[in-house]
Amino acid sequence: MSKHAEETVLRTAHETTHFDPRTSEQELPAKAPAKLNAVDLGSVHVETPVILSPMAGVTNWPFRVICEEYGPHGLYVAEMITARALVAKNPKALRLCRFAPSERIRSLQLYGVNPSIMEQAAQMVVDNNMADHVDLNFGCPVPKVTRRGGGSALPWKTDLFADVVSRVVGVCDKAGIPVTAKIRVGIDHEHETFHEAGHIAQEEGCKAVTLHARTTAEYYGGHSDWTRIAELVDELDVPVFGNGDIWGASDAMAMVEQTGCAGVAIGRGCQGRPWIFADIKNAFAGSDERVNPTLGEVARVMMRHATLMTEFHDGDEQMAVHDMRKHIAWYLKGFPVGGGVRRAFMESESLADMQRIIDTLDLDATLAPRIVDAPRGRVRFAKKVHLPYGWLDSRSTTHDEREALFGDDPMDASY
Ligand SMILES: Cc1cc2nc3c(=O)[nH]c(=O)nc-3n(C[C@H](O)[C@H](O)[C@H](O)COP(=O)(O)O)c2cc1C
Repeated sequence: MSKHAEETVLRTAHETTHFDPRTSEQELPAKAPAKLNAVDLGSVHVETPVILSPMAGVTNWPFRVICEEYGPHGLYVAEMITARALVAKNPKALRLCRFAPSERIRSLQLYGVNPSIMEQAAQMVVDNNMADHVDLNFGCPVPKVTRRGGGSALPWKTDLFADVVSRVVGVCDKAGIPVTAKIRVGIDHEHETFHEAGHIAQEEGCKAVTLHARTTAEYYGGHSDWTRIAELVDELDVPVFGNGDIWGASDAMAMVEQTGCAGVAIGRGCQGRPWIFADIKNAFAGSDERVNPTLGEVARVMMRHATLMTEFHDGDEQMAVHDMRKHIAWYLKGFPVGGGVRRAFMESESLADMQRIIDTLDLDATLAPRIVDAPRGRVRFAKKVHLPYGWLDSRSTTHDEREALFGDDPMDASY
């Protein structure tokens, strides 16, 4: 560990995940039937607890609508909204809070470090009837967040964590809006936080806890250690949703079987593959039916996504098509589409441009088998974990630490 003037930097070269069910010889023993029961988060009924995990820049309403069309009556969570930006009524933050009429449960995620700002943001959500469910982000590993004590760094300070949760729950409870918390295992394996965080979240009134079973140091590398999800399931009374490395329906079933978790949260596995929610729905309903779309079918989804995205951007097609670039790359992953065509998509400026490129494709092409259900998206480890100076010295915050933290929230810069 090295200390710079303003932050503590944890070097993480030797950090590894403990268990990878995809490569391990040893199968985790079955703990529960591969079955999902309905979960009630307070008054919010989730018929099949399959969750679209919040992803910044990805899970805005157009993508959520498409996922939900394929999937069960689950929980499709919006990307994190910075509490400070919301309170300031920042237009970009407000745009991210929009929902489509078809969305059954309006599920927002709030991010923030300052309990008072988080409380104000929750009050705004309540006063303006902005959501049916509020999730709290304590899992973000991004350095600009953790170096200010946010995201996955925050549960280390148990007093601050309890404060944030209890203030938001205090406001939301009165309006009958359930609050849940999304956490990681800890900062690294020497500084695990999920046991305490799970208990605090439960005691402060969270209706469920989602565990992404990696540490901050593991970032998106290695494998989510599902044994930790099983531990938390045993410890808590509230439902625990498991998260990390569900790339196909069989992973979702295996996670439930091996951990006994009450629900499964899918992040990167649905990037460019919203039909994974149909596969998971079918699997838990006892059906072997899986969606294996041709390129033509994928292109139709892509165009529909781009059309909804245009609506999301208030009719600005160019903005929508630019916003689609990462999605297009994900949709095309594994299809026999050359570099020139991919580049053309990246340069397209309108829906018509996109359609013209699609018209040149071999629409009967199918996905290479090795790509189906294979990992995708970010997969790397963090090189370092950045934390506020002296963060790890104690599990509670000093007055000075709080002063320093609340002065400027890192995520302000993103808006
Ligand atoms: C591009 C991207 C953006 C993310 N944004 C958020 C976010 O806004 N809030 C959050 O709690 N987690 C966020 N995550 C984490 C995911 O919700 C999820 O916990 C993580 O990707 C592990 O699940 P997976 O293995 O299924 O991808 C993000 C992940 C990715 C890849």
